[in-house]
Amino acid sequence: MNYLITGGAGFIGSHLAAYLLEQGHQVHILDNLSTGDPENIRKLTRYQHFRSTVADIRDVEAVEQAIARCDQVYHLAASVGVKKVMEQGVETLTTNVLGTENVLRLAAHYRVKVFLASSSEVYGKVQGEDSLLSEADDCLIGATSKKRWGYACSKAMDEFLAKAYQEEQNLDVVIGRFFNVVGAVTSANQKNDNGKVIPRFIDQAMKGEPIRVYGDGSQLRSFTHVTDVIQAVTALMNVPEAVGEVFNVGSENEVSIRDLAEKVKQITGSSSQIQTIPFEQIYGSGFEDIGRRSPDLTKIKSTIPYKPQFDMDQILQEAVNEYLRDKGSTKAAG
Ligand SMILES: NC(=O)c1ccc[n+]([C@@H]2O[C@H](COP(=O)([O-])OP(=O)(O)OC[C@H]3O[C@@H](n4cnc5c(N)ncnc54)[C@H](O)[C@@H]3O)[C@@H](O)[C@H]2O)c1
Repeated sequence: MNYLITGGAGFIGSHLAAYLLEQGHQVHILDNLSTGDPENIRKLTRYQHFRSTVADIRDVEAVEQAIARCDQVYHLAASVGVKKVMEQGVETLTTNVLGTENVLRLAAHYRVKVFLASSSEVYGKVQGEDSLLSEADDCLIGATSKKRWGYACSKAMDEFLAKAYQEEQNLDVVIGRFFNVVGAVTSANQKNDNGKVIPRFIDQAMKGEPIRVYGDGSQLRSFTHVTDVIQAVTALMNVPEAVGEVFNVGSENEVSIRDLAEKVKQITGSSSQIQTIPFEQIYGSGFEDIGRRSPDLTKIKSTIPYKPQFDMDQILQEAVNEYLRDKGSTKAAG
């Protein structure tokens, strides 16, 4: 197969590209490198069937050329992360809505199947206090004056567009709502991204600095290893029942952010204090956080044989090993 991965220089996209190339497929990455890492592309050039184009998904000509030559698209390119959304609204909203519309329209035109990466953010303020979040649940997006909801709205609009193209123009599309995907990252951008809580906690713990928990730490999150995400999305693209459907792609690794900080302390043997910081101090006034955000996996499990392999301890151990490897290589280079 000949795959196009938009956003393929990013975290999830580069892992997906490596996986598909290992299977012997052809992979073409289209990425504007805004948060993606050229190093991710460089590593993939060892595969014979790999090529890449540095271009924007809002560029009609570039996207058309790429889609006209592929069999399937994994559409992962997006402006990602709450902080980025709050600081760069135009970039985020136009990329996520206009760029995605471009991809969907051209894929419908060339009769190419699409996987669309959506996000658990679309659930908005629905907390699933007593139950887990399920695909048919209502979404509860906050006021438009609160900029963080722009990301959720843009991803919800992508889902509406995908569904409309499917129903009106016979586009084969599968939608996955990802919940906190974690795993090895090579991108310096991502390692320094404040939004990535696990690498941030590990860095603070290893340096003996206070581990900074945003909010009171009682918020519950679930973390999914990127390997499990790739198994899920590639399997979903292979079953006809998934077409036109939305799936939670997550895991049962639910943990409070406070407990996560404790686990990081334990696993690193750190004596760091755990410090709580009000959200407003990090994101400005009017920031709204969600108490619980964990997926109901009934739908995905009844569609594909999905059983996430990585538990929280494995995820943290891998992240610590990665941190130590990075530090080792920095020292060696120095
Ligand atoms: N990582 C997560 O926890 C998570 C959670 C929910 C949803 N998602 C979704 O998964 C997808 C991949 O996320 P990721 O974590 O790998 O993020 P990432 O930032 O590493 O990857 C996104 C990629 O898209 C590229 N990109 C951004 N704007 C672009 C544009 N206008 N044109 C072309 N390329 C552009 C970036 O350069 C980057 O390489 C995104 O759609 C994101 O919304 C991720």
